[in-house]
Amino acid sequence: MRFSGLVERIAGEGANAWEIHSEAKSALDRGEDVIVLSVGDPDLDTPASVLERAIERLRAGDTHYTPAPGRQRLREAIAAAHHARTGQSVDASNVIFLAGAQNALFTASLCLAGRGDEVIALEPLYPTYPAAIEVSGARMVRARAPAAQGFRPDLPALESVITPRTRAIFFATPNNPSGVILNEAELAGIGELARRHSLWVVADEVYAGLAPGGRVPSLAASMPEQVVTISSLSKSHAMPGWRAGWLVGPRQLVAHVESLVVCMLYGLPGFIQEAALTALQIAPAAEQRIREFCAARRDFLLAGLAGVKGIRCCIPDAGMFTLIDVRETGLSGHEFVRELYRAERVSVLDGGAFGEETGGFVRLCFATDEAALREACIRIRRFVASLKIP
Ligand SMILES: Cc1ncc(COP(=O)(O)O)c(C=O)c1O
Repeated sequence: MRFSGLVERIAGEGANAWEIHSEAKSALDRGEDVIVLSVGDPDLDTPASVLERAIERLRAGDTHYTPAPGRQRLREAIAAAHHARTGQSVDASNVIFLAGAQNALFTASLCLAGRGDEVIALEPLYPTYPAAIEVSGARMVRARAPAAQGFRPDLPALESVITPRTRAIFFATPNNPSGVILNEAELAGIGELARRHSLWVVADEVYAGLAPGGRVPSLAASMPEQVVTISSLSKSHAMPGWRAGWLVGPRQLVAHVESLVVCMLYGLPGFIQEAALTALQIAPAAEQRIREFCAARRDFLLAGLAGVKGIRCCIPDAGMFTLIDVRETGLSGHEFVRELYRAERVSVLDGGAFGEETGGFVRLCFATDEAALREACIRIRRFVASLKIP
């Protein structure tokens, strides 16, 4: 029996990146002594009022079909939150509620490009990007951000990969894994290129709530016809399992995404939408909670790994990850991840999964409990010491 050509475009690097992580998770589930720092799932519970609202709505029988683009009140609340964050004037018709930012990336990709087109993604990039972009039939083209420049975007490099086939530029700010927040000047440069070449700009702001003050510079207000903003409650509210996210963009795009949603999701659960509405109402407190949590854990980790010969932690602008430069150990990121797991049962992610420039780095999520982080630091120190770096 044969499969479609799509199955090849959605398999590959992204899936391989999680090999050690999956092994570690299975070991953890079996009750083994494993520390998993390879995934961005904060060790915090869903805010109590959000949980209560979902339970209340479930008990009230809110388990029927819902409007495909999401309930009006929720879309209005997302529009208001987006306006507060970016300054862009939008209403419910600019918003569609989706099953997380990943789903929003996927739907944006399918509606913005197709076979014969090219889509640029700024590196380092989240490992699901290649499949989410190429699922449309378009080819993903990488624009590298050099390690030597702290993984900040290289605008001449970006310009050099634009061709007449280019349709869109995708990026995440704050970035995963580097934690880099694109500044006004960098965004202005990207915006200028997008205007000149009539390109869509897809800004994945899933970590924006973790940035200082809960905001990041955005092109949305200055280029409303070309910018698509994607976000979710996964990171800002520690709610990744709820699959609650959205896309904000021009009305016409939202109408197309709605058509896609009708044949793909057919609407999302009402009790989750009501809980998401509550989450947006408490967003300032929820975001402050996660920011303070991440800041404390980041400082704890940086102190715990300070002065270890052979590795160097990068300090992120925002987010829940640090990239650790392991080049001096003589191991690639991939080898470091594998050997660290074998020797000490600590699972981190190979930086190479995010692009070539991050190849000599590993990504570690510090949004976890202090005892686990303390023990992880001891084990990482012991592992690096065992490498006997000259
Ligand atoms: C940059 C980036 N975009 C999107 C996602 C997916 O987020 P969500 O859980 O909202 O689908 C993640 C998850 O880690 C991410 O790091």
